[in-house]
Amino acid sequence: MKAAIFYFSESGNTEKVAIAIYERLEKAGYEVTPVRFQDLDDLPAAADGVDLFAAGFPTFFGYPPKFVSDALKSLRRVRGTDAIVFTTYGGITAGDSLYEAASTLAKKGYRILGGLKIEGNDDYPQGRELKINMGRPDEDDLRAAARFVDKILEAKAAGHSLDPAALASHTQFFVENRGKPRRRVVGRIRRPIEGKIEFNPKQCIFCVTCIQSCPTRSIRKGDRTPEFSWKCIDGVRCYQCVRVCPGKAFTVSYPRPVGEYPELTALYADSPEEKRRRYIVAGEQDRGR
Ligand SMILES: Cc1cc2nc3c(=O)[nH]c(=O)nc-3n(C[C@H](O)[C@H](O)[C@H](O)COP(=O)(O)O)c2cc1C
Ligand code: SF4
Ligand code: SF4
Repeated sequence: MKAAIFYFSESGNTEKVAIAIYERLEKAGYEVTPVRFQDLDDLPAAADGVDLFAAGFPTFFGYPPKFVSDALKSLRRVRGTDAIVFTTYGGITAGDSLYEAASTLAKKGYRILGGLKIEGNDDYPQGRELKINMGRPDEDDLRAAARFVDKILEAKAAGHSLDPAALASHTQFFVENRGKPRRRVVGRIRRPIEGKIEFNPKQCIFCVTCIQSCPTRSIRKGDRTPEFSWKCIDGVRCYQCVRVCPGKAFTVSYPRPVGEYPELTALYADSPEEKRRRYIVAGEQDRGR
């Protein structure tokens, strides 16, 4: 049996979960190919002939990064190939990210076996400064990922499948905004927290670490300093260049003081019950802890 795990991970959380899934599937006898979305030239070709398709991504403002959604939309139609979706999120909300990805796959003819959402450290600049969810995903999270694989394999063997709607967020903000243009919903989440990045060339030692670390390869090597297009991930900044810079050549200024971040994100934050829905599996609608 062949499985392919397609994933994007900008700061490493989703990659840890992808590895846990990979190891469990291998143990179950699968031949597994892990591929990063950003390294793919041709997703439709890479997905041909797999028995189990897995897509993983960080949640960005309640949804998968748009380039991941677009990649899934580019897949060829299949007849009932089994699929799973997984996301990591900073503990505020996984929003409708699983639902969106699963719906796209279902429209392409994939049979959804389940969805998994795992908390990671919040790598948004304010989240990092406030050390939100430091150390996550932890051992317990990765064990949950392994349990999820066992459960989806049971569901696969039993021929169960999941309506993607079972993966939709129960959080009021997403219930109310479902069906509205994604750009508008993202804008409401993004606007009050998005910081401005300033680049100070005098601090730059031209080590090119930022160029090598940019997941979208949107930084060019200039003559003496890097050159930024700031097009970033579908226009969304991941702040990886800021994090990795040894010269502290960037400053980020927040629209509101950093201490207000929890209050500003409370509008769309998950309830404790929603957070406890770590995995949802076909057949049993399981809500793993
Ligand atoms: C642009 C951006 C948007 C984010 N939006 C959310 C969000 O809506 N909810 C949340 O809980 N965390 C959010 N986060 C935090 C990430 O989802 C979280 O840190 C994730 O685990 C990162 O995964 P990675 O390490 O695989 O890149 C966001 C982070 C970034 C950079
Ligand atoms: S240039 Fe944009 S996409 Fe690249 S690392 Fe910086 S913030 Fe992320
Ligand atoms: S990581 Fe910082 S110091 Fe290195 S090239 Fe980029 S901006 Fe300059």
